[in-house]
Amino acid sequence: MQALVLAGGEGTRLRPLTYTTPKPVMPLAGRPFLSFMLDWLRGHGVTGAILSCGFLSDAVREVLGDTHQGMRLHYVTEEEPLGTAGPVRLALEGGILEERLLVLNGDVLTDLDLTAQLARHAATGARATLALIEVEDVSSYGVVPTGADGRVEAFLEKSDGPASTNRINAGAYVIEREVVESMIPSGRAVSFEREVFPALVGDGLHGYEASGYWIDIGAPERYLEATYDLLSGRLKSSLPPRDETGSLIGTGCLVSGAHIGPQSVLGSHCSVGSDSTLERSVLHDRVLVGADCVIRDSVLAGGVRVGDGARIEPGAMLGSGAKVEPGAVVGLDARVAPGAVVQAGGSPA
Ligand code: GTP
Repeated sequence: MQALVLAGGEGTRLRPLTYTTPKPVMPLAGRPFLSFMLDWLRGHGVTGAILSCGFLSDAVREVLGDTHQGMRLHYVTEEEPLGTAGPVRLALEGGILEERLLVLNGDVLTDLDLTAQLARHAATGARATLALIEVEDVSSYGVVPTGADGRVEAFLEKSDGPASTNRINAGAYVIEREVVESMIPSGRAVSFEREVFPALVGDGLHGYEASGYWIDIGAPERYLEATYDLLSGRLKSSLPPRDETGSLIGTGCLVSGAHIGPQSVLGSHCSVGSDSTLERSVLHDRVLVGADCVIRDSVLAGGVRVGDGARIEPGAMLGSGAKVEPGAVVGLDARVAPGAVVQAGGSPA
């Protein structure tokens, strides 16, 4: 089975982290995000994946290479962003599409049953089958009502009024090549969600009612939620064992005298000074935190330095190489640009 993973978006909601590291390879629980997705695809019989890249594509290839546990990785890079469907047309024109294809949003962490979705697609003779997942709060998503026979009845954007179902598009599609040929125009950005699927309603578009774990890691609070779920084992993965606080500490870290946990992740070669507290937070590689600091519910990108006695309040995200001076406070939900300096008693410089 062939899969195409959409991995070319700019990931604006995860800025400032995504200014320097593209979302597909953003470290999640210490591993490049897409490695979880590729494990999942491999478990459902995918033998080759096309990675559709654009924004910071070299970084994606550098991190993931040309194979993943025996699965071949093929890169297709677009010069201008082609949206979510345009890249599939580009792959068709590159002559690399098989008859039937899985298309995945490259920012979803899930264990939904693709094998069952593929079987449903084959049994109904659909032209395209979307995985639909139930969420409690549909306010940030469009919803997809289906009839008793599984046919999609509408593709409703979140602006279309009160939701009639709490099933949303999970970003996992089975698509016949014929749909790519006939429904996705060439040479311009095209959206599955806004153009292709609405046009396919009543013309061979089916839903598969998926269950299991599903989260879109593309927003800061969900990136942290996905981290906690992986650490706690709510989603099964091949992560190394966590320590007694449910935290993961990477190789070459120095943390003696610091209070790490619960549910924190340190990438490789980080240090946290004595009497510092790090709770439910994520440090990417080579982050240096001084003594007597407090960091809660925050994400610090690679190479961030935090001076003694500094405090980082919940929801903060610090871009690569940012510096927090001794005694400075980074406020609730703050965003600090890569390389910026947060001074004591002041805002980022
Ligand atoms: P935000 O800017 O934070 O909304 O993130 P995003 O750019 O990733 O957009 P969105 O979450 O809507 O994208 C869903 C999936 O499609 C992600 O896996 C993106 O990487 C991918 N994607 C979005 N736009 C493009 C594009 O123009 N080209 C390619 N190849 N992939 C895209």
